[in-house]
Amino acid sequence: MKRNRSFCQLFLLSFLVIVITIITFSIISVEARKNNHRQNMINKRLPKRHTRGRATSPSPSPSPSPPLSTNTFDIMSFGAKGNGISDDSQALVVAWRSACKVGGATVLVPSKLKFLLKPLTLQGPCMPDLTLQIDGTLVAPEEASSWPKSSLYQWINFKWLQNFTLKGSGTLDGQGSNWWTTSSSSEPYNYETQKSYSKHIPYMKPTAVRFYSSNHITVRDIRIINSPLCHLKFDNSKGIQVSNITISSPQNSPNTDGIHLQNTHDVQIQHSDIQTGDDCVSIQTGCSKVHVHHIMCGPGHGISLGGLGKDKSVACVSDIIVEDISMKNTLYGARIKTWQGGNGMVKNVRFSRIQLYDVMYPIMIDQYYCDKHACKNETEAVVISGVKFNQISGTYGVQPIHLACSNSLPCTDVDLIDIQLRPSIKYQGLLQQAVCWNSYGTSQGPLLPSSIHYCLRSGGGSIKRIARSHDTLCY
Ligand SMILES: *[C@@H]1O[C@H](CO)[C@@H](O)[C@H](O)[C@H]1NC(C)=O
Ligand SMILES: *[C@@H]1O[C@H](CO)[C@@H](O)[C@H](O)[C@H]1NC(C)=O
Ligand SMILES: *[C@@H]1O[C@H](CO)[C@@H](O)[C@H](O)[C@H]1NC(C)=O
Repeated sequence: MKRNRSFCQLFLLSFLVIVITIITFSIISVEARKNNHRQNMINKRLPKRHTRGRATSPSPSPSPSPPLSTNTFDIMSFGAKGNGISDDSQALVVAWRSACKVGGATVLVPSKLKFLLKPLTLQGPCMPDLTLQIDGTLVAPEEASSWPKSSLYQWINFKWLQNFTLKGSGTLDGQGSNWWTTSSSSEPYNYETQKSYSKHIPYMKPTAVRFYSSNHITVRDIRIINSPLCHLKFDNSKGIQVSNITISSPQNSPNTDGIHLQNTHDVQIQHSDIQTGDDCVSIQTGCSKVHVHHIMCGPGHGISLGGLGKDKSVACVSDIIVEDISMKNTLYGARIKTWQGGNGMVKNVRFSRIQLYDVMYPIMIDQYYCDKHACKNETEAVVISGVKFNQISGTYGVQPIHLACSNSLPCTDVDLIDIQLRPSIKYQGLLQQAVCWNSYGTSQGPLLPSSIHYCLRSGGGSIKRIARSHDTLCY
């Protein structure tokens, strides 16, 4: 009861504060209209914020009293300059630490300003329902050589968060061009040797935004552009909602995956626009219950599962739905790739309603994936079972379908339903026959080109039993 009453009081108080805030802001905007000089306006807003008593000094207050006014922690009040030249990392980190202690707080990166951030970590645990609202632009250091050698894994690292939202109308710019230029797109970055392209570029390239070990995370509305490597990565996490975001990097930027998932469950990625030099969405080992839908992908390498099973590792991926996708000028469309010699299983995957415009290889299962010139043939493989390709239509540049399953462990329960692929007028010289190797399942018309009718073998009952033994490795 007592608790309830104090909540009521807090609520009333917050309501009052909101009203006061609105009034204050109306006054400010009237003033601003009078002398619409932007710099003036910023200067005016700052002191007002200070007088409202929200953490005005960069050092955390000794007694963490509950907020008496707004729950918004504007990084300008924590010493950020917003000129794109001064390092504003510390201001963001301190604003974050203060907001982290308050339930339902928002850290605000205000619009129209540009903030230079060095690599940093924003970590929990925090009070629930924390929001980072990015309306301005965050930029990474431009020179690859100026990145601290110890922080090459990512630019912005979110760690150990629960019930957190990243949103806003702003942009996160990874300034990747310096990291890309020294490589040609025909020579992808070599993870094997971790060879650098030049002595000025470190061997490792950072992901722009990474979530690690975080649950119930929402990312929406923002733009992430020009990452040195992957743009948005979720690792070891659960309950992820991504919607209405834009990811953009040039077609020839190497290894710039859009969204990368690893050891992550219960994911929804929707209504977003992804243009990159690599996979639009890449689903790696340890992922399950992933739903990707209403995505515009391209340029890029399509939506992929894998490469799985590298260096004889065990890979497990299950319950993946990719549907209502538009792919334009991508190298691949719907793809699963595994390395020879791996173990584990990919099961229950559905690619549905995918519209293609000039996609080189629209449908692909490649169990001979290899980024070197040649890889050794192995008998072990990550087993693939239960993959549905349904309502996939549009134009292709090279091969309508490429199903290259393991010699020793064929793919089972592969379904081709309503596939209508026509050669693109743009790429007539490149056309190749479909490849269909060691894949069991059923097809259902209409199927175009008609050669697809002979792609799948029927039967495969005994193989399924062997496949199931691989599944036990996944629990
Ligand atoms: C976090 O969000 C999830 C899903 O919205 C909800 O079930 C859970 O209760 C929330 N946890 C907290 C601590 O607010
Ligand atoms: C999507 O994001 C943009 C850019 O931030 C925003 O203007 C728009 O309102 C958002 N749309 C929805 C449906 O939330
Ligand atoms: C591996 O197997 C494939 C298919 O059977 C064969 O074409 C290829 O020559 C083999 N490669 C090596 C390196 O043995």
